Amino acid sequence: MVINCADTDGSVTGPFREFYLARAEQQVGYVLVGATYVHPHGKGFDRQLGIYSDPLMPGLADLAAGLSVHCRVGIQLSFKSVGKPPTQFNLEDIQTYRESFRKAAERARAAGFDAVELHACHEYWLNYFLSPHFNRRSDAYGGSLPNRFRLLREVVDSIRTAVGSDLIVGVRLSLNEFVEDGLRLDETIQIGSWLDEMKVDYISASGGIAITQHHTSPPMDVPRASLLPLAAELKKKVSVPVIGVGRLDRPDVFRRSVSDGYCDLAAVARALIADPGYARKVMAGQDQSIRPCIACNHCLLCLQRNEPVRCAVNPFIGRDRMAIPSLKKPVSVVVVGGGPAGLSAAAHASKRGGRVCLFERSSKLGGALRIGHRAPHKEPIKEFADYLADQAQQAGCRILLGREATADIILMDTPDHVIVATGGTSIIPDINGLETHPRVFTAEDVLYAPQIEPGTYLVIGGGAVGLETAELIRTTGAHVTVLEMTDTLGRGMHATRQLLIVERLRTAGVCIHTETTPLLVDGSRVWAKTSEGPCLLGSFDVVVVAAGCRTKDELSQRLVAHTAVSVIGDAVHPRSIREAVSEGLDAALKLGEVSQKK
Ligand SMILES: Cc1cc2nc3c(=O)[nH]c(=O)nc-3n(C[C@H](O)[C@H](O)[C@H](O)COP(=O)(O)OP(=O)(O)OC[C@H]3O[C@@H](n4cnc5c(N)ncnc54)[C@H](O)[C@@H]3O)c2cc1C
Ligand SMILES: Cc1cc2nc3c(=O)[nH]c(=O)nc-3n(C[C@H](O)[C@H](O)[C@H](O)COP(=O)(O)O)c2cc1C
Ligand code: SF4
Repeated sequence: MVINCADTDGSVTGPFREFYLARAEQQVGYVLVGATYVHPHGKGFDRQLGIYSDPLMPGLADLAAGLSVHCRVGIQLSFKSVGKPPTQFNLEDIQTYRESFRKAAERARAAGFDAVELHACHEYWLNYFLSPHFNRRSDAYGGSLPNRFRLLREVVDSIRTAVGSDLIVGVRLSLNEFVEDGLRLDETIQIGSWLDEMKVDYISASGGIAITQHHTSPPMDVPRASLLPLAAELKKKVSVPVIGVGRLDRPDVFRRSVSDGYCDLAAVARALIADPGYARKVMAGQDQSIRPCIACNHCLLCLQRNEPVRCAVNPFIGRDRMAIPSLKKPVSVVVVGGGPAGLSAAAHASKRGGRVCLFERSSKLGGALRIGHRAPHKEPIKEFADYLADQAQQAGCRILLGREATADIILMDTPDHVIVATGGTSIIPDINGLETHPRVFTAEDVLYAPQIEPGTYLVIGGGAVGLETAELIRTTGAHVTVLEMTDTLGRGMHATRQLLIVERLRTAGVCIHTETTPLLVDGSRVWAKTSEGPCLLGSFDVVVVAAGCRTKDELSQRLVAHTAVSVIGDAVHPRSIREAVSEGLDAALKLGEVSQKK
């Protein structure tokens, strides 16, 4: 994985090293350091790791040495050339960059890596040349498959000649690009067979390009292990080991990918972002204690924004091997709210030695996640809610369910610190006549309801919650229309999810209007403003409002004169799981500081 936290010149930084060490030291067999650019022209992200010059060597050698104590270590050699198709490289460029791959492999060997892997997938340069979708050259590097393979063949050859058998040389391919005129399995199996004859040491079986990234890093909407059948086909045709990948993020799927014969080695990326101890816990059979990846692709969104990778569920990314400091003196903590923010704060405060009491006014822990998982494909959200609840319970927090915390109740026990994690409440937009409609619900009401009545539904709001609620309603056979004021559907979702949910809704016959604002409700009839002027949208049995949340922190103002208070998660400002969980950790880490000030 590119984690985008190297220095701007591509050198290894402390956080970069710590990220990989945290995983390597927990029984991963082979750590492959993600795409590392072999030439400055092939740099894809501001803070990507580089291997293009000798001054980078001390950091690389230190990284390889640190990781090698624990496992075998490889480095993926890459050149990203997005927006510059193969026709834009002349023969001199080809020679220059091919040489850069060779020199990079020599540097990798000198730095102490066991392996290099050539990044020949996901729209990187070597993939560009292989792909009939991108490669429109008419010379010896374009056209027929042998011609399109020529560049990869030359790069492998020159690396082998340079490093002999001292270094493991792997190649990562997109076995299927999932675009009409792209690479398909018949061609990639042929490429695999040639690589086999050339004695590469392994082939890593990925898939997809940028516009089909939902195949590369499948979101929660795509079944687990969906790329494995491709790996299995390749495995039948080559003698070198094949690495399988793609949502092998639960131990049973991970184990079965090898034991059922799909691949020789199983790889995970995001499961190891979410929990650096994934491999160790799988080996020890501690499946329940794995912090589950929810396949939301927030990590990829960070890369798209050119930010360091962060994770929705793992608040330790960027501070990966930090030890949670014990409190120097006992601190009593009240946490208000059992959503992800409150649970994260409570668990970490308890682990620090705090005496923690958590109030949750409903009968269940999990907060908004308890409804957030009800829409189709969102089961991982429930697993994460269960994980958080387990963590807080195991850490020894006192949990009071069905107990609404008021300022008076909280102050009765004179806590040293109160953490307010009370979340947000749904916004009911100010729409003329909305009160005249007989059945108006919030999305939360619908998601919470034991069953959905038949009828025609209008969902106001086409953000993530609106679309997911529309999909749930549609699964019951009800007729659904979605209204979105802006031109963007599924705000808050990663593009890989957005694309799939909009496609599913349209296929299922859900009527979606963008740039359309509700104007007037008159009984069951609804008028809207569109780009072409006002129009009657129709009659709807039920109006569902999915117009976002507002904060509902009323407690902290009353408490702040009496005790130290932190406000976290959606109680500050409605956002997402990532902020809730990381602010929970931050609040727990601040406990000592605040009580010293007191
Ligand atoms: C339908 C839906 C789907 C979502 N899907 C996603 C998603 O896929 N990915 C994502 O990142 N985010 C998603 N979100 C947003 C995410 O769930 C929230 O950002 C997150 O839950 C906020 O966590 P929190 O702990 O701050 O608040 P909440 O989860 O709202 O928890 C607050 C808790 O405090 C309790 N509480 C409030 N006042 C009191 C009181 N006085 N005493 C005791 N208890 C009290 C409430 O009962 C509640 O359990 C979704 C939200 C919704 C509504
Ligand atoms: C944050 C992130 C960075 C990635 N960087 C790379 C990369 O540098 N090279 C690569 O071949 N694949 C990269 N991928 C793809 C993963 O290696 C992997 O193939 C994909 O995410 C599917 O595996 P998973 O379900 O275990 O995450 C990246 C994925 C993520 C989420
Ligand atoms: S950000 Fe989401 S997809 Fe990425 S590792 Fe974390 S939970 Fe998984």
